[in-house]
Amino acid sequence: MQEQIVVEETTGSQVAQQRILVLDFGSQYARLIARRVREQHVYCEIVKHDISPEAIKRHHAKGLILSGGPSSVYSNAAPKCHPGIFDMGIPVLGICYGMQLACDELGGKVHSVPSREYGRARCHTNSGDALFQGIPEEVDVWMSHGDQVTQISENFEPLASTGTCPVAAVKHRELPIYGLQFHPEVTHTAHGDQILRNYVLSICGCDGAWQLGAFADETVERLRQRVGQGRVICGLSGGVDSSVTAALLYRAIGSQLSCILVNNGLLRKAEQETVISEFSNHFQTDLHVVAAEDLFLDALKGVTDPQEKRLRIGHTFIECFKKEAEKIEDARFLAQGTLYPDVIESGAAPDGPAATIKLHHNVGGLPSELGFELIEPLRDLFKDEVRRLGIELGLPAELVWRHPFPGPGLAVRCLGPVTRERLDILREADVIVVSEIKEAGLYRQTSQAFAVLLPVQSVGVMGDARTYDNTVVVRSVDTDDFMTADWSHLPYDLLSRMSTRIINEVDGVNRVCYDISSKPPATIEWE
Ligand code: XMP
Repeated sequence: MQEQIVVEETTGSQVAQQRILVLDFGSQYARLIARRVREQHVYCEIVKHDISPEAIKRHHAKGLILSGGPSSVYSNAAPKCHPGIFDMGIPVLGICYGMQLACDELGGKVHSVPSREYGRARCHTNSGDALFQGIPEEVDVWMSHGDQVTQISENFEPLASTGTCPVAAVKHRELPIYGLQFHPEVTHTAHGDQILRNYVLSICGCDGAWQLGAFADETVERLRQRVGQGRVICGLSGGVDSSVTAALLYRAIGSQLSCILVNNGLLRKAEQETVISEFSNHFQTDLHVVAAEDLFLDALKGVTDPQEKRLRIGHTFIECFKKEAEKIEDARFLAQGTLYPDVIESGAAPDGPAATIKLHHNVGGLPSELGFELIEPLRDLFKDEVRRLGIELGLPAELVWRHPFPGPGLAVRCLGPVTRERLDILREADVIVVSEIKEAGLYRQTSQAFAVLLPVQSVGVMGDARTYDNTVVVRSVDTDDFMTADWSHLPYDLLSRMSTRIINEVDGVNRVCYDISSKPPATIEWE
């Protein structure tokens, strides 16, 4: 499935004077390419595939990367670039569809191959060209294509080949135009980062001096221009994404920002107080706290089915948010901390359940319901970039490094019925899990750690008495992207301390288990 990319036209008043543009032809990987370029300390942004040469000049582009895409260049509906971009003297790098397009536009031929090539391929690079400086002659690359260049015009020379793809890389003989049939941006391509580094530093001549702080300046400038005198509403959850979104907006428009925190009664212990105190330490602007615990608990009464829980929480959230937003006069925009992985998971995700899970509750449902214009300043970023940005913006490390917390909150960790009493048990157990992990110095090493309350009672003995009480599961995972995860191999003495403390300190719990399932096949959350 292809995601819809909204790219705003920017003006000439940019902070980063050296930038690479990724012309997006509908690739799943466009943002990954942009991220890889930013990793080389060169600013990069994604633009529409048919951007005009004039707009490219306004962007001060030092290089143009034509992304991959699902189309075939020979089909009528194939997205094309403006033909003038090849004559601008700006280095062009076509990747996959981008290479096929460049070759096709400049006199070559592209055909479908009998069997789609997907996966690793051994690539032979036979040139001393700048693009392949420092790359071994034989290198594993990642292919994902159904078409390939079958003939290049005499203006091009081949730079690499694989067993099934005779033109795996090309270069124009006179113009600074390159093409790669494989994907240098994915980690499966060995030395892919070096190839991109060669392109942006040696071929495009960027100095590699850009820092994420400049992204903040850029974004702030862009937000100012877009919002003008308007008012923006931002939903706060206490998580890093919404906090960084609010911080960017606050820097851009100050008191024109209004934030809404919906207390759904499914927050962790002291979470509302923490969010409010962090908010008032950093922002002198409007904060609306909606006390909606009863509303959510009523909506969840008697519900045990996980999907039904999510649906009801989603609807109740929209209801509360809408009501509060109506009180904010002149609000025209709604800001959301959507990250790139959210975009993948909610729209283009190939891996099933996450897509469904995220669709229900994420605030993504809000904009059309409420009639606001949507602002998503973090849409191109990955979690670790957002964290670094948060630090740049002066947010405290404690907030920036906080483990993710799902929108439906403790409801999806309180298996079975969600009641005030059961939530209180879970909250007490959860705070012990997290504080023990912090105490052991493992909070940053683990990606997400929490407690889960099962709808299971078992027999125990406390003192001399028989108990028949609840079971708490400790879950801790290590992951880079939250799409796959391994259970954390926590030290036994840490697990032992957690268990002892939970059983001793939390009334109603007599048994603690540790979850040793990875994702897949399990998920990180239990519901
Ligand atoms: P799963 O359980 O799908 O979780 O392996 C992957 C990551 O996503 C978080 N998660 C959610 N986040 N709304 C969110 O905002 C949700 O409905 C939701 N479900 C899961 C989960 O905490 C983990 O970080």
